[in-house]
Amino acid sequence: KIYCRYKKQFEKTTALPRYINVAVVGLSGAEKEKGAVGVGKSCLCNRFMRLSSDDFKDDHNSLLSNSDFSGRVVNNDNFLYWGDVIKTSEEGTDYMFRVIEQTEFIDDSTFQPFCGVKTDPYIKRCVATKIESPEKLMYICRSQLGIEEKYEQKVLPPGEFSVDGFLCVFDVSVVPGRSIVKQLETVTNILTNIKNTKKPVVLVTTKNDKFNEAYVQEVQKLVSHSEFKKAIPIVETSAYLNVNVDAAFIALAHIIDRFKGRTKIVPYLESVKTT
Ligand code: GTP
Ligand code: MG
Repeated sequence: KIYCRYKKQFEKTTALPRYINVAVVGLSGAEKEKGAVGVGKSCLCNRFMRLSSDDFKDDHNSLLSNSDFSGRVVNNDNFLYWGDVIKTSEEGTDYMFRVIEQTEFIDDSTFQPFCGVKTDPYIKRCVATKIESPEKLMYICRSQLGIEEKYEQKVLPPGEFSVDGFLCVFDVSVVPGRSIVKQLETVTNILTNIKNTKKPVVLVTTKNDKFNEAYVQEVQKLVSHSEFKKAIPIVETSAYLNVNVDAAFIALAHIIDRFKGRTKIVPYLESVKTT
């Protein structure tokens, strides 16, 4: 009996973390697509991956020079590798998250998306579940580009990066130059394409510190749409205030892991009071 107890304890302390590969997606593109600023994919990833608040930056502009686009961090891709991080869920499971952000880089001389590599439109491309990019380096911040050797260098694990699930981002703040209709249409298309991959998805609303109530309601309507038979969980976040960011990734890990318990998802206004 005692042996069994020790064996159990030993297994618990030496258990390897569960690997969870996540792709963060959402409206992306040139200014005419996404408006004056992005929907918050990079800030969400930054907040989740880097534990120190000194490492939170909000400038992850996708406007790049040719040389930055072809450097080892961007690696001529339209996605970023944000590295890996271990997070422990409330019930005590260690999850090792590896995160990529699917975006669209824009050439700072033409203001058009880079077209070096012929690719599918974003809504189709971003749901890829098998990803490869030899020797691609982890992205940290914009000032890293061009002087990679001055920053920590972590390589995207060689071989195929297999996406286990998606976080689909929806910005609930009002952004000049972007219509809510455009964002709803794009996110609906992305969710439909994710459904076809059969991988789990969590809808993450961003910038709730500046939310517009009408947009919040639109998102609720969207996920209860009959097309998505199984309702998609919504997690309301703010990367600025670090509210519900870990909760969004853990909620996804629970679906991937077929967690039998209850996943606690606290609404933004309630969660913000306790942080
Ligand atoms: P692209 O990759 O260029 O498509 O953009 P993105 O989706 O990665 O957006 P990004 O994270 O770069 O955020 C764009 C801007 O939105 C930031 O520079 C911030 O000004 C703002 N933003 C992001 N997160 C928050 C947030 O939690 N609260 C508020 N108020 N603003 C935010
Ligand atoms: Mg980005």
